[in-house]
Amino acid sequence: MSDPIDRLLDAAESGKSIIRNRNILHFTYIPDTILHRNSEQEQVTQSLIPILKQSHPSNLLVYGKPGTGKTLVVKKIISKIQERVEKSNFPIRLVYSNSKEETTLYGLLVSIGRQLGLKKEELPTTGLAISEVFKRILEKIDQNELNVIFVIDEIDYLAQLVTKTGKDILYQLTRANERLKNSSLTLVGISNDLTFKEKLDPRVISSLGEEEIVFTNYNVDQLKKILEERINEAFMQGSVEEPALNLCAALAGGEHGDARRAIDLIRVAGELAERQQSDTVTEAHVREASQKIEENKEEASLKSYPLHEKLVILAIMKANGSSTGEIYTSYKNLCKVVGRDGLTQRRITQMLSEIELSGIINGRLVHQGIHGRTKKYRLTISTEMVKKTFKDDLTLQDVV
Ligand SMILES: Nc1ncnc2c1ncn2[C@@H]1O[C@H](COP(=O)(O)OP(=O)(O)OP(=O)(O)O)[C@@H](O)[C@H]1O
Ligand SMILES: [Mg+2]
Repeated sequence: MSDPIDRLLDAAESGKSIIRNRNILHFTYIPDTILHRNSEQEQVTQSLIPILKQSHPSNLLVYGKPGTGKTLVVKKIISKIQERVEKSNFPIRLVYSNSKEETTLYGLLVSIGRQLGLKKEELPTTGLAISEVFKRILEKIDQNELNVIFVIDEIDYLAQLVTKTGKDILYQLTRANERLKNSSLTLVGISNDLTFKEKLDPRVISSLGEEEIVFTNYNVDQLKKILEERINEAFMQGSVEEPALNLCAALAGGEHGDARRAIDLIRVAGELAERQQSDTVTEAHVREASQKIEENKEEASLKSYPLHEKLVILAIMKANGSSTGEIYTSYKNLCKVVGRDGLTQRRITQMLSEIELSGIINGRLVHQGIHGRTKKYRLTISTEMVKKTFKDDLTLQDVV
């Protein structure tokens, strides 16, 4: 019998590789050509042009569903402006930050401060009040007489970072110009949450959304073109079958025209094809990839739940299709097994609605004659998936 390691290594050496350059399929890769986004590129560029003329652009909000090219377009424009700035020594700074990638508001502000050249001594990584951090950032901008553009990507997540102390941060950011004497600050917010604005303070809406640009969804044909470009660069020639390409575009287009999903699909399909030592990426690989991506998403969302949510999911698994009351009983039993105090039925009912939003469980209102109505829940994912994911949680090992 051959050694399992050697067998795989031999196969990898002799087998054909389908993917020529994996990095091109990574979500941070910036392609040379951005297709179907000319008007958006023009609009965003236009609105930032005043900065090159040493004047102050309007604050800008960029909206659009996930995977519609917002980050890509804004990053590309920022880097192009940056190139010119470096050549001609304009007192301009462009700063990019992503609220989703930061765990605290402090962290986000420090990331901005560092990009503006604030050293550790001037801006320590912890310990200051948010208002002080902000003050130091503004001082730096004013001292150096800079015109600054702050891009805050996934700006809707900023709300989650904001605690009591930083409650007013968006307001302060949008009004920073009133505090700056020899300099200016322009805010570019990017969001895929179209309801984001409704949640803001009206004072912030009017100043943050001075200008707004909406990125529309890609249709299936546009996704196909985007994929073709990317495949040409990343894959060996002729290694992706036409039906596979079509299916990727159709699947991604079927949701809301998400280019990220389209590229993820072809990447995972390519990896599966290589692993199976196939010569080409077929439709079957794309279907398998789609299923795998779906499972990974479910797994990640299951893993991210706190303990009591996990117990509720287990309770539904054990009493699948049961009413809220029955699920509560099952949940209380599980609490005993793991040695935790159970939460109130009211809280659990609320929790069920929250979990339902994620799509992992599905609730159905059932009328019970004179007993009124109750909601019955069932899992929309396999029990194997739940067991597999929760098995790693030490507290839950006994119940799984
Ligand atoms: N027009 C396009 N041409 C080529 N590639 C594109 C295009 N639009 C998007 N992509 C690619 O699709 C992926 C997602 O794009 P991007 O990250 O810009 O989406 P987004 O609108 O910022 O989404 P989210 O709201 O989820 O952050 C990236 O890999 C990007 O390179
Ligand atoms: Mg983005």
